[in-house]
Amino acid sequence: MSAITGGPGLPQQRRLVTDIPGPASAAALERKRTHVADGVGTVLPIFVTAAGGGVIIDADGNSLIDLGSGIAVTSVGNAAAAVTRRVHEQVDAFTHTCFMVTPYDGYVDVCAALAEVTPGDHAKKSALFNSGAEAVENAVKISRAATGRDAVGVFDHAYHGRTNLTMAMTAKNMPYKHGFGPFAGEVYRAPLSYPLRDGLSGEAAAARAIDVLDKQVGVDNLACVVIEPILGEGGFVVPAEGFLPALAEWCTANGIVYIADEIQSGFCRTGDWFACDHEGVVPDLVTTAKGMAGGLPLAAVTGRAELMDSVHVGGLGGTYGGNPVACAAALGALEEMRTHDLAGRARTIGERMSGHLDKLRAGHPVIADVRGRGAMMAIELCKPGTTEPDAARAAAVNAACHRAGVVTLTCGTWGNVFRFLPPLSIPDDLLDEAFGVVAEAFMATA
Ligand SMILES: Cc1ncc(COP(=O)(O)O)c(C=O)c1O
Repeated sequence: MSAITGGPGLPQQRRLVTDIPGPASAAALERKRTHVADGVGTVLPIFVTAAGGGVIIDADGNSLIDLGSGIAVTSVGNAAAAVTRRVHEQVDAFTHTCFMVTPYDGYVDVCAALAEVTPGDHAKKSALFNSGAEAVENAVKISRAATGRDAVGVFDHAYHGRTNLTMAMTAKNMPYKHGFGPFAGEVYRAPLSYPLRDGLSGEAAAARAIDVLDKQVGVDNLACVVIEPILGEGGFVVPAEGFLPALAEWCTANGIVYIADEIQSGFCRTGDWFACDHEGVVPDLVTTAKGMAGGLPLAAVTGRAELMDSVHVGGLGGTYGGNPVACAAALGALEEMRTHDLAGRARTIGERMSGHLDKLRAGHPVIADVRGRGAMMAIELCKPGTTEPDAARAAAVNAACHRAGVVTLTCGTWGNVFRFLPPLSIPDDLLDEAFGVVAEAFMATA
């Protein structure tokens, strides 16, 4: 068998040579059923052999258009050139030492880069971890150590991960929490700004949330407030303008650590380095992962140096956190973002997607909302003329897109949101073709 090469050199085309999934993927799926726990679900069971630019190639030779980026991870493109080059160099040099035993430059380089690109020009430090959930857990640890307080404020529709503490912080029961309790304590939920459903201004929604946190938890008990500046799994809800700054101001005034969870929205995805940048909000701590390392597992907490340093030596870390290969990948991904101005590219992609989605909405009253920023866009499907979620239609459209060779994802508390997260390396014509397929899927399922 010839060597499989993915990356930016792959032919950028949608090309189906079998049904989706084809026979080779179907056989592989049988093996998955035998060997992989059923709890590990799969959205689109094609088995991947290569990917790059805006396509994913499967075991049957089908070439599908990628509108998911492995859930906002391969923003710089799959197997992007600078990522693979630096990863190859690093694996040839050494693969692991454990930074807590014998350190290396790559870890420090990533932390220095994070200080540069995250919001605010104050002195910052970082600590590196393996997954987004681990970063969120550590941000909470740091804020508790810094404030001497216990309580954690989170929001309706939030998603922060699947570990015990982050399950408590995540809002949606099924599939993330069901049957997995008891959950960590001292986590309190406040209402979010959800313009489609509450019609409130940002200031009014912030006042409502602050009232809940103040009266039901108390500022003297709150270590931190953790918020996704644009929701991820919860439905790509963009809080009304003014909500995030008002919340940040209230946190600052009351000594509460304001934590922006930018794990899904960070690293050029929304057309800025971070979603917080849009309203100039400067969080005390930022959690990042996903898009940071071009597909390798790496996560970080970055924040005010004095806050980060409030933890005793040895209090933060982990065997693999900031693995040298993952750090090399992150440095490669950052190189791609800077060299190709991927924040600018995300804005262009966003304009193109908005054009397609606004047109689609005009012909399909089931689309109650078009929202998002940059290359992080979504549509929410509701029974026409209402805000009653239509998850069945979202599932039908999603399945039709998959059958036609476009990798799409849903999300949202009610499963009725269709989200679009193309790699920023996708060519315009392929993006347009994908939205043509989405439009056909709406027609076919009407
Ligand atoms: C906003 C947000 N926080 C945290 C997480 C958890 O990240 P991970 O799956 O890497 O643990 C996710 C993952 O989707 C996320 O979108």
